[in-house]
Amino acid sequence: MSSIRQRKITVVGAGFVGATCAQLCAMRELAAEVVLIDILEGRPQGIALDLNQAAAVDFTGARVVGTNDPADTAGSDVFIVTAGKPRTPGMSRSDLLGTNGKVIHAVAEYVRERSPEAIVIVVTNPLDVMVHLMRVRTGFPGRRVIGMAGVLDSARFSSFIAEATGASVQDVDAMVLGAHGDSMVPMPHYCTVNGVQLSDLVDEAAIAAMAERTQHGGAEIVGLLKTGSAWYAPATAAVAMAASVLGDQRRLLPCACYLNGEFGFEGLYMGVPAVLGSGGVERIIELPLTAESRALMHKTAGAIEGDLETLRELGQL
Ligand code: 2OP
Repeated sequence: MSSIRQRKITVVGAGFVGATCAQLCAMRELAAEVVLIDILEGRPQGIALDLNQAAAVDFTGARVVGTNDPADTAGSDVFIVTAGKPRTPGMSRSDLLGTNGKVIHAVAEYVRERSPEAIVIVVTNPLDVMVHLMRVRTGFPGRRVIGMAGVLDSARFSSFIAEATGASVQDVDAMVLGAHGDSMVPMPHYCTVNGVQLSDLVDEAAIAAMAERTQHGGAEIVGLLKTGSAWYAPATAAVAMAASVLGDQRRLLPCACYLNGEFGFEGLYMGVPAVLGSGGVERIIELPLTAESRALMHKTAGAIEGDLETLRELGQL
C-alpha cells in the first residue's frame, strides 16, 4: 500500500455515518486525501468545506474533497461505504434490502472500474447481505471486501459490561459474532475485563440481559432518535477497520468476512474474528465454539441466507 502522503480514502454517503467517518479519517490523518461522495448535490461539498475549515483550527493535514462525481474517487486505497437509507422505528435492517441493494449496485460499478485494487469496508444495511452484494458486483476477492458490524456490536456489549462492572471500558474485551441483526451471537465466554472472565464478575442473568440489549442495541437508538439510526459508534468502528488496513496494524477485529469453509460455512458473509492488515482480511480465526454458540451461528447463517434469497427474488443478486 502507498505511503500515507499518497493515500486516498473514499467515504461513500454523506449522511451522519459518512460525515463522521470523513471527520475521523481526516482528523486522524489516515490518508492525504479523504473523498466524500454522495448523490445529493451540495451536501458532500458543504461538509468538506466545514471539515477543511476545522483542520485550520486543529492543524490536521488531510484534505477533504466533497463531490458528486465518481471520477474523483479514482485510485482510492480504501472505500468506506455508508450510502443507503437508515432504519426508522419499527423497521428491521432487512426491510432496507431492495432500496439499499440498488445503491450498492451503483457504487460497486465505480469502485470496480476506477479503484480496482481498493479494499472496501461496507457499512450499509442489511450489512451481511450488502457486503455480499458488493463482493459479487465488484468481483473483488473476498479478503478485499469486508463488512463492519462486529466491531460495533462488540463495542455496544463492551459499554454495557463496563457499566455493569464499574470497570473502565478500556479494560473490557467483548466479542459478538454472526449477523448484524437480531440473530447476532454475543460470546460471553470470550468477554473479559483485563483478563478476568465476565462470568467471575457478574451473574448469568446480568450477562443474558446485556447480551440481549446488545442484540437490540441498534434498534434501541433508532427508537430514541425516531428519524434515523446511530452514527458515532458505527463510524468509529468502520474507521478503526480502515486504520488497521491502512496502517497494516493487524488488529483482531470481529467483522463480516467471506467464509470459505471457516466455521463450517461456505460462500457466505458473516461476523467472525479476523486479522485486518494491508491485504484486507489477513486471517480468520476459527475459535472453538460451545454447542450452544455453534447452534446460534447456524441460526444466524439461516437469517443471512433468507435475506440473500430475498435479494435473488428481487433480481439484484
Ligand atoms: C446500527 O446497528 C447502523 O446498523 C447500525 O446502529
